[in-house]
Amino acid sequence: ADPQQVLQKQLAAATALRWVRSGMRLGLGTGSTAAAFITLLGQAVRAGELRVEAVATSLASETLAREVGIPLLPPRRGLRLDLTIDGADELDDRLQLIKGGGGALLREKVVAAASDYLLIIADSSKHVAQLGRFPLPLEVVPFALPWVLDAVAKLGGAPELRLATANPAEPARSDQGNLLVDCHFGELPNPPELARQLEQIPGIVEHGLFLDLARAAVVAQADTARVLRP
Ligand code: A5P
Repeated sequence: ADPQQVLQKQLAAATALRWVRSGMRLGLGTGSTAAAFITLLGQAVRAGELRVEAVATSLASETLAREVGIPLLPPRRGLRLDLTIDGADELDDRLQLIKGGGGALLREKVVAAASDYLLIIADSSKHVAQLGRFPLPLEVVPFALPWVLDAVAKLGGAPELRLATANPAEPARSDQGNLLVDCHFGELPNPPELARQLEQIPGIVEHGLFLDLARAAVVAQADTARVLRP
């Protein structure tokens, strides 16, 4: 990893702690930036500076949260989260996002929807003028895969089945046991229209376009953190 990027992720994570108050119920994101935040939050919790409870967006983040001493909440009816802190693969000026590079897009969107406030933390490489350089991830039910690939290809998305990093002979699996498909659309002139089209394809459980969900983003530059709002 680029050392400059690592520092920026760390800075974004540290800045996000300013949004957290004792008594809050939090959503914890997935990926290396979210992991940096979880680690810092755990330090504050163990030091007795913050008292929070949290829902994790992946098994990986759940394991890390447990390790660093953050009390975890299971999903339940009526539960609202005050604040979710998550990373992103791309964000634009309107805080439209591409997420799912870490494969956790479904739980990430579920938790974002259950939250009153979604705060995105990112290094400056994630901030783009137009979404689409990063391939758009989909979570797909295994049975539906061939037809989903056909439908996405028809939309011009050049779909690619994601392979497991540990064993590239096997497909990658989400925490739900579903498959992940990365779609190369190129620049996305109309993300809402694309989201609507993808939502009409049976077998796609979720797509990585997060539109009108983020309320603020902390984007870390060299040694400053800028706060963006839509
Ligand atoms: C996880 O599914 C993604 O949505 C992550 O938020 C994204 O991959 C960001 O990862 P990094 O923080 O490691 O760049």
